[in-house]
Amino acid sequence: MEIETFSLSKTYDNGKQALRPIDISFRGPGIFSIIGLNGAGKTTLVRILATQLTPTSGTATVGGFDILRDTPRVREIIACVPQEARAVPPWLTPLQTVSSYLMWRGYTYRESRQMALEALGRVGLSDEVRVKNRMLSGGMKRKVLVACAIASEAEVLFLDEPTTGLDHISRKDLWSILRDISRERTIVLTTHYLDEAESLSRSIAVMSHGRLLALGGSMDDLRSMMKHPVSIRVYGPPRPR
Ligand SMILES: Nc1ncnc2c1ncn2[C@@H]1O[C@H](COP(=O)(O)OP(=O)(O)OP(=O)(O)O)[C@@H](O)[C@H]1O
Ligand SMILES: [Mg+2]
Repeated sequence: MEIETFSLSKTYDNGKQALRPIDISFRGPGIFSIIGLNGAGKTTLVRILATQLTPTSGTATVGGFDILRDTPRVREIIACVPQEARAVPPWLTPLQTVSSYLMWRGYTYRESRQMALEALGRVGLSDEVRVKNRMLSGGMKRKVLVACAIASEAEVLFLDEPTTGLDHISRKDLWSILRDISRERTIVLTTHYLDEAESLSRSIAVMSHGRLLALGGSMDDLRSMMKHPVSIRVYGPPRPR
């Protein structure tokens, strides 16, 4: 699936220019990572691509469908994990959360339960499938959302910081799940971690203050694109007086 943006920009109602006109193109399957500091515009970009937010100018296509003109078609082929883990309903269990999400997507009750149990097992929540979401830790709530996305069979997944708040082992487990899924599907992932972007992605976009600083296939590509050579000076310990 191809994702393309055409001079896509966003200025919020308060005048904040979160996204300067941006042109990106990625052809899946595989993982496209967006990396950048807090406030770089990653979530704004992902929410626009996922049709949750309208751009101020420009447009984008997901799988050939225009996010503004073909919004329902885009929604049929995508699944999202938002940055906020609060999105899980506290009164449901993980099994109810994932299976009801799948039923909304058109699967039968039986299929949904089966697919939900399998996805929850994959993210390591087999023991918690019947515990209320409100009893889960922040990392576990995030895993419930990831389970929804991977169970969905959507062709394009948008994952906004899926590994934030996960412990080291869960993070590496999720990497291996994402690698596996990305053989057939297109994943757009935001992250603060260089190692994550480098280890998982076929293409990496570096964003800063709403601008695309660089777009490359690997961190080495991105380093070689830097306009100015980087020099690092290392000082020894202070000399005793
Ligand atoms: N609803 C909003 N109204 C006004 N400004 C907003 C809104 N949402 C985000 N912003 C601003 O837009 C800019 C980009 O925010 P965004 O959430 O896209 O960044 P981000 O790269 O996802 O950051 P983080 O790594 O912290 O998640 C920030 O300056 C933020 O304050
Ligand atoms: Mg964000």
